[in-house]
Amino acid sequence: MSKTVRLEPIAHQTSIETNGNLLSVLINKDLDVLRECGGRGMCATCHVYVRDGMDSLSPVNRREQRTLEVITSCKPNSRLACQARVLGNDVVVELPPGMYINSIKDIEALIGRRAEQNLLHPVTGQVLVEEGKLITRSVMKQIESTTSFKFGDFFTKSSDI
Ligand code: FES
Repeated sequence: MSKTVRLEPIAHQTSIETNGNLLSVLINKDLDVLRECGGRGMCATCHVYVRDGMDSLSPVNRREQRTLEVITSCKPNSRLACQARVLGNDVVVELPPGMYINSIKDIEALIGRRAEQNLLHPVTGQVLVEEGKLITRSVMKQIESTTSFKFGDFFTKSSDI
């Protein structure tokens, strides 16, 4: 049996097998989901808002809860798509607007330009540069001071795997 999921704001209706991973829906639709931690429930890059059908998803686990607590744009209807399984019909999800930064090189290449959309921190979801604002070197410093920004290291060193 398959279940229906709708993606907003692109108004895309799709189906997924019962108990399927919500993240797979996003990836199948070619949405830009970084999965920075490899689907382990430890980053912000698969964060979605569930507009409808929260009861049709598997419950939030402890790891997910802890990660959601550090995501600055977290709301009561937030979920991590990699941790949520689709159990019922009519789930409607929306991706937070903006682009997650996934390497310091991403920023280096953009210095001196204006952000075309909000640039987001991949672990906290914090807006680093607002849409339309100039991207400066200080953004790199800001990232470095919040985490080591060596995400490979960051995730492998975590003892909570
Ligand atoms: S991919 Fe990192 S929390 Fe889902």
